[in-house]
Amino acid sequence: MRKAVPLFLAILLYHSKFSLAKPPSPPLPVLPVPSSSQLKWQRREIIMFFHFGVNTFTNSEWGTGHESPTIFNPTALNTTQWISAASALGVSLVILTAKHHDGFCLWPSRYTHHSVALSPWHGGKGDVVSNFVNAAHAGGIDVGLYLSPWDRHEKSYGLDVPYNEYYLGQLYELLTNYGSISEIWFDGAKGANATNMTYYFKDWFGMTKQLQGSINIFSDAGPDLRWVGDEKGAAGETCWSQINRTSLRIGDASLERYLNTGDPRGTDWVPPECDVSIRPGWFWHETEKPKPLNQLIDIYYKSVGRNCVLLLNVPPNTTGLVSEIDVKRLRQFRLAIDKIFKEDIARGSIVKASSERGGKNGSFAASNVVDGDEETYWAPEEEKKGSYWIELCGLNQTAKFNVVRIQEMISMGQRIRRHEVYVDGKAVVRNGTTVGHKRLHRLEQPMRAKSVRIRIPESRGPPLLSVVGLHFDPFKPWVSTNTL
Ligand SMILES: *[C@@H]1O[C@H](CO)[C@@H](O)[C@H](O)[C@H]1NC(C)=O
Ligand SMILES: *[C@@H]1O[C@H](CO)[C@@H](O)[C@H](O)[C@H]1NC(C)=O
Ligand SMILES: *[C@@H]1O[C@H](CO)[C@@H](O)[C@H](O)[C@H]1NC(C)=O
Ligand SMILES: *[C@@H]1O[C@H](CO)[C@@H](O)[C@H](O)[C@H]1NC(C)=O
Ligand SMILES: *[C@@H]1O[C@H](CO)[C@@H](O)[C@H](O)[C@H]1NC(C)=O
Ligand SMILES: *[C@@H]1O[C@H](CO)[C@@H](O)[C@H](O)[C@H]1NC(C)=O
Ligand SMILES: *[C@@H]1O[C@H](CO)[C@@H](O)[C@H](O)[C@H]1NC(C)=O
Ligand SMILES: *[C@@H]1O[C@H](CO)[C@@H](O)[C@H](O)[C@H]1NC(C)=O
Repeated sequence: MRKAVPLFLAILLYHSKFSLAKPPSPPLPVLPVPSSSQLKWQRREIIMFFHFGVNTFTNSEWGTGHESPTIFNPTALNTTQWISAASALGVSLVILTAKHHDGFCLWPSRYTHHSVALSPWHGGKGDVVSNFVNAAHAGGIDVGLYLSPWDRHEKSYGLDVPYNEYYLGQLYELLTNYGSISEIWFDGAKGANATNMTYYFKDWFGMTKQLQGSINIFSDAGPDLRWVGDEKGAAGETCWSQINRTSLRIGDASLERYLNTGDPRGTDWVPPECDVSIRPGWFWHETEKPKPLNQLIDIYYKSVGRNCVLLLNVPPNTTGLVSEIDVKRLRQFRLAIDKIFKEDIARGSIVKASSERGGKNGSFAASNVVDGDEETYWAPEEEKKGSYWIELCGLNQTAKFNVVRIQEMISMGQRIRRHEVYVDGKAVVRNGTTVGHKRLHRLEQPMRAKSVRIRIPESRGPPLLSVVGLHFDPFKPWVSTNTL
């Protein structure tokens, strides 16, 4: 009995000491890091664009600015139907072309007559922007707007001060009359009679941030989101979220490659958005059809699977509705993504790593990559260059996989410069460069394995992984036949 007391005390002491032990603090971020609005945007993964306006009725892609507003006459416009199309794909943000290059405004701007106010639609009392925003918000979906700087109708276009004032006036209307706007879209397109005119981007950006504090501004050069450099929906195989804004110029085609890949040494966090249309054109044309499902899946791998957000355009038709064939394709696309990623054979597997900050049972354990929570992550100790690795062991060997999903904890900065995927300790099945928010590797052959190892030979500081997933994709890869 007398002997039992000190033992009991020793156990008590051990446990109290254990519970008082401080967990290791998180590692330092590697700058630059995203803002909260940029992080929210990145996690949306797919967003949607609606190109709609006079071009819809003239069967063209670029209007002249000389269209009569009376041609704008959708017989049964229903933006709630557009939003249910967006919901079919499961997107959380939709963007509307409030004004395209033709200068026709989908809202009754007080600064021009070239708008819905002079159209027969709703007897000139309608406002497509307002309908759109209300329908989206009613469906729990955020909105964005595109206001084309190039304006082929406006008389002051080409004259620096008058046109920039006109543009700011319209921008003010859009940013103050329609509630919360989550993204604004600017491009640098210019008319031939305006090559000497300057778009006052700094003024536009300044007013935008003043009126909508949590908005993301998209343009070729950010400040928040950048163009990916093509309209095919494909990012570079190397794709950094960071870039040097000082090297960017809006509307400069020579920068497309730099935009496509970003810059590991970039000082600014300006992640790329991949804009592509579900159809050949951006506006609706009777003779066009949506892209086949396997092409959309391919676009998903090349955009979302390369650290980008996919901005998919779906043009409403002259009735003012998204055609049923497009809605059906959107629904198929969502079902396909869910089918591929619902099952994850890595989930719950045993995970080993080159090291774990705070040890095996700490908050940065390797097992965080298979816990189904994107907010937890594996952090290694600071190691020698090239020695970082993580390995999923004891995998279900009857389950096949042909997709490897790797996700970095980008809130702490994008770090990985090179990575390699090994199966069963031997062959490298895939080499890659950047990872970022999400990197998807589609393997040529389905595999079964006991273990999968990710080796990280090069990174900016210790790599922080939030997820490693293994999936089976039953869809046939898209092969372009457009090589004539
Ligand atoms: C608009 O579309 C929605 C969703 O498809 C539908 O429920 C609603 O009835 C439509 N409204 C009208 C006026 O047709
Ligand atoms: C440029 O062209 C547009 C029409 O295309 C016109 O409205 C505008 O006045 C022109 N600007 C100048 C400065 O000539
Ligand atoms: C642009 O400016 C140059 C020189 O300042 C002038 O020669 C040219 O005519 C201008 N172009 C236009 C389209 O106004
Ligand atoms: C971007 O800026 C960083 C820091 O100034 C610099 O080291 C890097 O070389 C720049 N990248 C390019 C492509 O100029
Ligand atoms: C537009 O799409 C709706 C929904 O599929 C369809 O009912 C309507 O006929 C289409 N309009 C045209 C002009 O194709
Ligand atoms: C980690 O936790 C497990 C289960 O709770 C325990 O058996 C093991 O001793 C712990 N290891 C360390 C190093 O604390
Ligand atoms: C292993 O995978 C096979 C094929 O997907 C599945 O039928 C089986 O239930 C899995 N076993 C375990 C233990 O998860
Ligand atoms: C990966 O790179 C190594 C050289 O670093 C090379 O030997 C190997 O063949 C590559 N594997 C694949 C699948 O590309």
